[in-house]
Amino acid sequence: MKDVRKINCDGVITSRRKIANNIYHIKIELEERFPIFAYGNFVMVHLKDYMNVLLPRPFSIFRAKNKILELVFKEVGTGTKMIATSILPFNVRVWGPLGNSFPFGKDMLCVAGGLGLIPLYQSIIKRNFKEVFVGFKNIYEAYFVKSLQKRGVIISSDDGSLGERGFVTEIFYQYLKRTNFKGKVVSCGPIGFLKRLWEIEREVGNIETYGSFEKHMACGFGVCLGCAMETPWGFVKVCSDGPVFRLKDVFGE
Ligand SMILES: Cc1cc2nc3c(=O)[nH]c(=O)nc-3n(C[C@H](O)[C@H](O)[C@H](O)COP(=O)(O)OP(=O)(O)OC[C@H]3O[C@@H](n4cnc5c(N)ncnc54)[C@H](O)[C@@H]3O)c2cc1C
Ligand code: FES
Repeated sequence: MKDVRKINCDGVITSRRKIANNIYHIKIELEERFPIFAYGNFVMVHLKDYMNVLLPRPFSIFRAKNKILELVFKEVGTGTKMIATSILPFNVRVWGPLGNSFPFGKDMLCVAGGLGLIPLYQSIIKRNFKEVFVGFKNIYEAYFVKSLQKRGVIISSDDGSLGERGFVTEIFYQYLKRTNFKGKVVSCGPIGFLKRLWEIEREVGNIETYGSFEKHMACGFGVCLGCAMETPWGFVKVCSDGPVFRLKDVFGE
């Protein structure tokens, strides 16, 4: 029977490793076994000992096995700075898995930009895709490079310091023009990246692109409306209707 359990329990960050400029991999030892999850699901992490970070923060599930949950994050503000710099062990509360997941099927393409690699990494490793494109800003912000190279992933960087030079969206676009690919594409990256992928879908036709979106979140399960996102068809809640949406359903015709 499918495990659809969610947990809401205490945990302790027991290990932290810097894997690139301002990017860290952490392990959280949970009080309970982490449930079965799907790629694209996320967790809310509350830094319970820090009163100056009241709201929990959403993070994609990088990996989870038994009572160990692994996350990868970039230090961008108050909460992530705490996680990146506090002395370990560090107490947290975790709830999840939350949200929907990426569609999977045969012969799909995958495009990830920067931190967008995190929710897709494990399925890339399992070789779930026909072709994978990963773009970083530069070599200093790149992570898991050797492992990606080993799997034949097409890597690019905006400044050419790693792999092909240029935006990953454009390298992906050239591939589509060359191959006439038809089918599903899964993606994750910043909003400008997702908008560009939608432009590409409209231009080339014959592809269905799904992307994972980010919004500020407070509850993570659909009750506070903190993550409302406007679409041409009304508001959606990124935490419970998403975070994965078909780009067409967010950006419209
Ligand atoms: C479903 C989901 C999965 C995510 N997965 C990851 C992940 O795996 N790794 C990772 O590093 N980050 C991830 N994020 C983003 C992460 O939640 C934010 O970077 C984090 O909440 C920032 O917290 P902070 O206290 O450090 O920043 P704050 O001090 O709160 O803000 C710092 C800056 O980051 C911006 N920001 C904060 N939260 C968000 C957000 N949710 N979306 C967009 N901008 C934000 C703020 O506007 C501000 O500019 C995810 C977000 C979502 C919604
Ligand atoms: S974060 Fe509360 S409704 Fe989405």
